[in-house]
Amino acid sequence: TGIPSIKDVVDEFPVGAAITPAALLGEHGKLLAKHFDSVTPGNALKWDATEPSEGTFRFADADTMVAFAQANDMAVRGHTLVWHNQTPAWVFLDDTGAPMTATAANKALLLARLEAHIRAVVGHYGDDIPVWDVVNEVIDESQPDGYRRSRWYEIAGLDYIRTAFRVAREVAPDATLVINDYNTNVPAKRDKLYALVALLKSEGVPIDAVGHQMHVNIDWPATAEVEAMIQKFVPLGVEQQITEMDVSIYTSESESFPTPPADRLLKVAYKYRDLFALYRRYAAEITSVTVWGLADDDTWLDTFPVTRKDAPLLFDTRLQAKDAYWGVVDPS
Ligand code: XIL
Repeated sequence: TGIPSIKDVVDEFPVGAAITPAALLGEHGKLLAKHFDSVTPGNALKWDATEPSEGTFRFADADTMVAFAQANDMAVRGHTLVWHNQTPAWVFLDDTGAPMTATAANKALLLARLEAHIRAVVGHYGDDIPVWDVVNEVIDESQPDGYRRSRWYEIAGLDYIRTAFRVAREVAPDATLVINDYNTNVPAKRDKLYALVALLKSEGVPIDAVGHQMHVNIDWPATAEVEAMIQKFVPLGVEQQITEMDVSIYTSESESFPTPPADRLLKVAYKYRDLFALYRRYAAEITSVTVWGLADDDTWLDTFPVTRKDAPLLFDTRLQAKDAYWGVVDPS
């Protein structure tokens, strides 16, 4: 009864949603389980959540999400093992408690912490989490080499990425290991990511998939640019996943509406329609699509990059299906 389930209609690949703890409760939980094949903990698997101080692990929130997923026949995407945000300060402090400088000893300490973290987190879940965003947002296309100057990179160079994938593979040999980033449709960024993945794969670093976040808006990007993005990575022989899609009603930081205007909501729907149709045409490459939230009552875009009401998801603040939902399930 009721409207069609997204996961029944879109059968080319699993469709997931990122969640906060509230998404499991009451009507939210029913909506989630009805429409989606998988969940991505939005914050609960990040380093600040799982290892807030060295060697102290907290898995309660993520364990609850995994249990919900299993009870409802859903999968879980692990997000994320290495990032420059939401990583506790202690990770980058040397053995005197001062911020690490780029010495060989500090690099060894940092990589040892990274290895211990991945062993603990990935090992805790084993087969319950079969796909991991191993590294997140490591590209900065404004750098000539394309490598983001994060604390990770400053102290360990590319070895933090090599270590992360090798340890993840060792602990979870069957898991799909993903390098995830945003704006991968932008040619300059896309090409830098391509070059890095090509280099690492030539070295034997076990990267299985490229993750495209797809935080887009009503006017950007054009479908053709997203198609070029997908085609770019085909020669690398990697899977591709859409990991964090949402469609902002805003096209600049200076705009703000107290409630989403009808014409903008329609454009959100067209963007979902066009991009889902594209993903489905490329089902040989795209192995999952995840939206970054369940409904518009809980979206990170309400506070990023500025505080203002956004409406980037498939269900509205009252959990009703939006035109965006119909764009996905009935693209005609
Ligand atoms: C966001 C979460 O949704 C927010 O709750 C948190 O405050 C900040 O991070 N790219 C990513 C995600 O890879 O981890 C981010 O998630 C959104 C942008």
